[in-house]
Amino acid sequence: MTEWLRKDCLGLRGVSREEIELVLDTARSMKEIHTRTVKKVPTLRGKIVANLFYEPSTRTRTSFELAATRLSADVINITTAQSSVVKGETVPDTANNLRVMGADAVVIRHNISGTPHFLAKNTSIPVLNAGDGTNEHPSQALLDMFTIREHKGCIEGLTVAIVGDILHGRVARSNMWGLLTLGAKVRFVGPPTLIPPGVQDLGVEVYHDLDKAIEGVDVINLLRIQRERMTGNFFPSLQEYSRIYGMTMERLKRAKPGVLIMHPGPMNRGIEIMSEVADSESSVILEQVTNGIAVRMALLYLLIGREIESDKPHEKKDLHTPTLFEN
Ligand code: CP
Repeated sequence: MTEWLRKDCLGLRGVSREEIELVLDTARSMKEIHTRTVKKVPTLRGKIVANLFYEPSTRTRTSFELAATRLSADVINITTAQSSVVKGETVPDTANNLRVMGADAVVIRHNISGTPHFLAKNTSIPVLNAGDGTNEHPSQALLDMFTIREHKGCIEGLTVAIVGDILHGRVARSNMWGLLTLGAKVRFVGPPTLIPPGVQDLGVEVYHDLDKAIEGVDVINLLRIQRERMTGNFFPSLQEYSRIYGMTMERLKRAKPGVLIMHPGPMNRGIEIMSEVADSESSVILEQVTNGIAVRMALLYLLIGREIESDKPHEKKDLHTPTLFEN
């Protein structure tokens, strides 16, 4: 059986198909816990997860916290405004202070690409990347793939259009690595200024015409324009962008029957996605949010849960047996 042998979860670049499928299969077992009357299991009892967020977050921070608490871990939430980061403390110093207070893993979001990787080299506890600059957002892509797999059965052979601000989009990058590894075709769609040069060499198809790009696709993943990361003018106006790249009901009606509409959030309704589309039967946007908890439970379990088992090797249980997650 495939094992998760990495210390950290930093990105999906270079992660094998078997490792991704291990996370998705583990998440399926975790989601079952959601259907129980008591939505909590003792798997991570005695463990401490530190959430270290240098950027705002609603979904990722909350779902990592819920994931940890559903597995009975304790959670420390550090946001920069209330911490000694404002006094100039470095990321490794902050994380290592949390480590010596007992933290078993650190979940980090940072506006600078590569910060989680730097931290991983400078702390002995597992690091989970909750989004670093324009680089990667692996747990988001895993929950996206989990949601697609739930609806479509498998990822292999599907075509996924990722529309919008690809240049600044860490969600786009992680989805690209994961989806290509699992055998999907990936289309990046947006104005030339928002598509990184050379992505075709990685196996992605590039489209600048949204109507052509969504023909025959199984999934349309719409991304927000990340104005906070833009250093120049990438298109004339938001109105112009929305007219050319906004997902309208008319466009949705022309898409393949059964197409899934996805968005990692936060949505800018009326810009990249119209409200009728976001709230339509094709939309799985809120399911993505729910699935985020199961996927993050799986990641925490794979990174810090299994040593509990190895503490008592005579009691070692199969990762996929439901008994592992029982109350
Ligand atoms: N999708 C996502 O990363 O959302 P948050 O910024 O709210 O965490």
